[in-house]
Amino acid sequence: MDIFKLALEKFDVLNHTPVGMVVINSEYQVLFWNQCIEYWSNKHSNEILGTSLLSHYSHLNTDRYLSRIETIFEGGPPVLFSTHLHQYFIPCLLSNGQWMNQNTTISAFPSFDGNGHYALIAIENVTELTQRVFEYRQMRDKALNEIKQRELAEKEKEKIQAQMLRAQKLESLSVLTRGIAHDFNNQLMGILGNASILKQLVPQDSTLIKYVDKIQQATLKSADLTKQLIDYTGKSKIIANFLNFNQVLKELKPIIDSTVSPHIIVNYELEKELPDVKADTAQIEKVIMHLVTNADEAIGNQSGLITIRTHAKHFSKEELFNAHIEMKLQEGFFSYFEVQDTGHGMDDNTMLKIFDPFFSTRFIGRGLGLTMVLGIVQGHRGTILIESTPQKGSCFRVLLPSQVKKPA
Ligand SMILES: Nc1ncnc2c1ncn2[C@@H]1O[C@H](COP(=O)(O)OP(=O)(O)OP(=O)(O)O)[C@@H](O)[C@H]1O
Ligand SMILES: [Mg+2]
Repeated sequence: MDIFKLALEKFDVLNHTPVGMVVINSEYQVLFWNQCIEYWSNKHSNEILGTSLLSHYSHLNTDRYLSRIETIFEGGPPVLFSTHLHQYFIPCLLSNGQWMNQNTTISAFPSFDGNGHYALIAIENVTELTQRVFEYRQMRDKALNEIKQRELAEKEKEKIQAQMLRAQKLESLSVLTRGIAHDFNNQLMGILGNASILKQLVPQDSTLIKYVDKIQQATLKSADLTKQLIDYTGKSKIIANFLNFNQVLKELKPIIDSTVSPHIIVNYELEKELPDVKADTAQIEKVIMHLVTNADEAIGNQSGLITIRTHAKHFSKEELFNAHIEMKLQEGFFSYFEVQDTGHGMDDNTMLKIFDPFFSTRFIGRGLGLTMVLGIVQGHRGTILIESTPQKGSCFRVLLPSQVKKPA
């Protein structure tokens, strides 16, 4: 019986399966081509039986396919050509003009003459499945994206809430401090007044005079402290005039250089054309000096570097949002100075508390320095941006609204 008739007889049952079935011998000659693949490929079995499969489908005539099909003729385990890597084995055009996605499994079938193996090729149409997987992936990506967006929004909300809490905390501390400082100051003025009356009444050569002096000195020191507390509230009187940070720094330089420990180098990087700001020179000097003192203390006994910079630029809402003073500042053009040090830096927990009055990590610190800095900057409708890394250093940047826009 001829081999094609035999194949038709043996494989006839495969004509009734919704899977494309093809049998080839080791010469790639097609022995069987079922009705399903006839329909899909639009190629009748009369036209293909006995001919080489490779002559019809030249893409198969490549090492990518041949090397694996050869193993089947030697009786090797089944091989799979997936839609993912190969898209299709036998090109079949769908009614919508797209190529059918196929999953093809080739397994060995003992040849009729018992000499070697035929390759039994089973082709599944997985177009719909692939489409569904594709849609599923799209849906999954969309869902994941939505979850991510929601998480981001949640984080942003938490950040805003934390900022608001911090702002509220600073505001209530400010109200409390202002109240106490004013009342306390009034009492001090009473003590001071009475002490000076006492001084006039006590004979100049009396031993009591030195005690009166001590009362006066202690009262003046306390008055200074209450002054600092009032500064903290940002409500101290501002004598504002146009000033330039560069000018202030040039004038302060001798004091800064003599205040900073000798083993620390101070570098100045001043922007040439810096727009003016409207501010109280004495208060700005206090801020600079205090930031420099803190930088010096953060470096401690080791050698280190303090860099004082000035610059001006536009700050966006987002950049201002990260500021350590919540002041609902409008985005805009700001002149700033910054004091950067190579000191011990701060962790997140410390950063949250540095503006609280009486918070200090230093043994002899009173914890009022930054409290005062905050009050002054708030009083000038400015803000402070801080960056700090433990063991690396910190940078305190003080922004005040520029009075003249810098040319672009
Ligand atoms: N440049 C800096 N580097 C690292 N930590 C800093 C720096 N500046 C401030 N801090 C941290 O912030 C805290 C509060 O600073 P603040 O200036 O208000 O108080 P203080 O320096 O401790 O005391 P004082 O009242 O004498 O200024 C410091 O104790 C320190 O922990
Ligand atoms: Mg300090």
